[in-house]
Amino acid sequence: MMHPNAVMLVLLGKLVLPFVSAQNAGFVKSPMSETKLTGDTFELYCDVVGNPTPEIQWWYAEINRADSFKQLWDGARKRRVSINTAYGTNGVSVLGITRLTLEDSGTYECRASNDPRRNDLRQNPAITWIRAQATISVLQKPKINASDQVILSADSSSKPVILQCNLTTAHTPHEESFWMKNGQEIPNTRTDHRLTIYRITKPRADDSGEYMCVYTFSMAPNANATIEVKAKPDIIGHKRSENKNEGEDAMMYCKSVGYPHPTWTWRKVDGTSYTDIDNSTGRFFITSRDNYTELNIINLDLKTDPGVYQCNASNVIGNTAETTILRVRSNLAPLWPFLGVLAEILILVVIIVVYEKRKKPDDFIDGKQTFGLSL
Ligand SMILES: *[C@@H]1O[C@H](CO)[C@@H](O)[C@H](O)[C@H]1NC(C)=O
Ligand SMILES: *[C@@H]1O[C@H](CO)[C@@H](O)[C@H](O)[C@H]1NC(C)=O
Ligand SMILES: *[C@@H]1O[C@H](CO)[C@@H](O)[C@H](O)[C@H]1NC(C)=O
Ligand SMILES: *[C@@H]1O[C@H](CO)[C@@H](O)[C@H](O)[C@H]1NC(C)=O
Ligand SMILES: *[C@@H]1O[C@H](CO)[C@@H](O)[C@H](O)[C@H]1NC(C)=O
Ligand SMILES: *[C@@H]1O[C@H](CO)[C@@H](O)[C@H](O)[C@H]1NC(C)=O
Repeated sequence: MMHPNAVMLVLLGKLVLPFVSAQNAGFVKSPMSETKLTGDTFELYCDVVGNPTPEIQWWYAEINRADSFKQLWDGARKRRVSINTAYGTNGVSVLGITRLTLEDSGTYECRASNDPRRNDLRQNPAITWIRAQATISVLQKPKINASDQVILSADSSSKPVILQCNLTTAHTPHEESFWMKNGQEIPNTRTDHRLTIYRITKPRADDSGEYMCVYTFSMAPNANATIEVKAKPDIIGHKRSENKNEGEDAMMYCKSVGYPHPTWTWRKVDGTSYTDIDNSTGRFFITSRDNYTELNIINLDLKTDPGVYQCNASNVIGNTAETTILRVRSNLAPLWPFLGVLAEILILVVIIVVYEKRKKPDDFIDGKQTFGLSL
């Protein structure tokens, strides 16, 4: 005889099971092999489906020692290892290792399982866990002897600037080299020499920026060195004046060249002194991004807002400023020409009326005089 509860369980099982069908763990995304340089960082991704959601682990074996896998933990290798795992409908895990050393080379394995027997030591893990491997090769970072940073000063603008890189040591021979400025390749700078030179013949503020020489290798990541070329900001665009009606919005802006990008400030020029912008009415909005700043004033006030506004660009090398005159017209202003005409008519009417009143008694005399004169 079955216990009544057992009957209940069997019934429940029959009812529930068809709806939540178990699914073995499977990889959606598995880690990819990579070659890295010492000092750099790598990340491996592992994305697994299954029902219930599979558990994910990371394991490591030295190169050619596939028999000696050891489990990796968050915080291992003096906190250079990080493991971030999220379990939702999928299991997703990211293994990261920072400040790579040559000893970090090896095989990294993502293991996943939702088998209820997965942590039973008597089971063969090869049956209860699925595995995906990636090989990470860490190479000694090449050494590049690069010029020091350059500061462009206004008076040295005629002297050419020479930027130089020399690849002094490399794990393997390089393929070629090229120059970049602010993250963009400079055309026609590709060579295959170890020593590469970039010449700025007539340096201007515009030529300042982050320069980089890059060496390419056939089977390894690029190596690069950065040379900063700094210059005082130069404002290359702004409005001379902004003319608006009261109640309208005003927009003023300034654009600069010069690296590093400046910090921007806006002030009001009061004769020879400056005042900070008074935002007690909450109508002033400043948005600044890198080489551009914008001052917006909404709902212009006829009394307080007109005047001279100044944008000031300042970086480690120096600062510069430009001004915009803001004129605010009264809303009555368009009526003025009409009021003027009205006033003229009024004055004329008054003159005529006054003249007419005085005319009567003097009429004859005037007429005689005129008549007499014309004789
Ligand atoms: C790097 O280059 C400069 C000149 O180009 C030289 O004086 C210096 O000794 C070099 N440094 C190394 C480490 O090679
Ligand atoms: C560049 O580096 C190589 C290798 O260290 C060295 O022999 C050569 O003199 C360097 N050239 C210059 C211009 O610094
Ligand atoms: C420059 O080197 C760094 C560090 O190795 C690397 O992360 C970066 O991608 C390289 N940049 C370029 C443009 O090669
Ligand atoms: C002025 O005040 C408004 C409203 O409080 C605020 O959103 C805005 O950022 C302020 N502008 C400046 C330049 O501080
Ligand atoms: C301003 O900076 C942006 C990116 O920060 C750049 O794309 C743009 O060319 C720069 N403009 C000038 C005039 O330097
Ligand atoms: C711009 O701002 C800087 C820092 O606040 C200040 O030292 C400098 O005098 C200002 N420059 C001009 C031209 O007003």
